[in-house]
Amino acid sequence: MDYPPVLKGAEHAEFARSVLSGLTAAPKTLHARWLYDGVGAKLFEAITKLDHYYPTRTEMAILEANADEIADALGDDVTIVEPGAGEATKVRPLLAALGPRAAGYMPIDIAEEQLLAVADEMAALYPSLAVKGIAADFFRPFSMDKPERAVIFFPGSTVGNMSLADGQALMRSLHEMSGADRFLIGFDLLKDRQTLIDAYDDPAGITAAFKKNVLQRINRELDADFDVPNFAHDVRFNEATSAIEMRLRTDEAVTVTVAGHPIAFEAGEAIHTEDSRKYTLESFADFARGANLSPVKAWTDPQEQFAVMLLSVD
Ligand code: AVJ
Repeated sequence: MDYPPVLKGAEHAEFARSVLSGLTAAPKTLHARWLYDGVGAKLFEAITKLDHYYPTRTEMAILEANADEIADALGDDVTIVEPGAGEATKVRPLLAALGPRAAGYMPIDIAEEQLLAVADEMAALYPSLAVKGIAADFFRPFSMDKPERAVIFFPGSTVGNMSLADGQALMRSLHEMSGADRFLIGFDLLKDRQTLIDAYDDPAGITAAFKKNVLQRINRELDADFDVPNFAHDVRFNEATSAIEMRLRTDEAVTVTVAGHPIAFEAGEAIHTEDSRKYTLESFADFARGANLSPVKAWTDPQEQFAVMLLSVD
């Protein structure tokens, strides 16, 4: 397997700081953003193709089926700002439906090389579009031009992985930094418990491998010695918070060294790795109001598994 390049200075320091502060907290935790190194991104890609993992394909289907209506709701001279654009897959049906009504596209991504390649590709595909890639970690403050009539396109239910307060703070900072007056955001809908568990605990163990990779990454990049097979992927649904909760649990008591610091685990102790919150249209609207956003319109798939909502900045 080829490993991605080690993080550059400041990012590496931030990774080390975040991991050590998470592993010395009680309960132990690792921020979900660290799941996505090169290996983790490939494993997540494999997850999106699993039969039981419905969110990615359902969101894409919603965007494709409703592209014309969404484009009409966005109107003229729109600039789409997309945090965490990756390969810019989900924005394409919207840009196609907007046609000349789309003025600009500004993908934001931390992976600079891929970002520049995607920006070039999009500029070639949509010649009338002003494309400008922004290499930044959108979880932290950054500066960018503030285009007119910008809408932040934020698919992928990313805020669902954050606490309510952190998600609201991120949405607020995104519209402040970009000057956008609207959000088009995807989120996962509450549904029966078994469907949710199956989506996050697949029998082939791809999700478990995705989670365990973060420990391998810490071993590789922070000179740690996690005995990775000793940690098991644990999934539960918390009814009270309406969130899938994922942890890595060790049955045995063990002490791991991370960047020179000993981290002791009791038998049965777990590291919290990710929450994936599920909403109703109403609960998401309430959440968004806390970030000074008002719902304009929402689209769902026929089975109401996932939703895409347009919101305006108050
Ligand atoms: C990338 C946040 C959409 O919560 O469904 C998938 C991440 N984790 N399987 C999700 C994830 C385990 C995923 N998101």
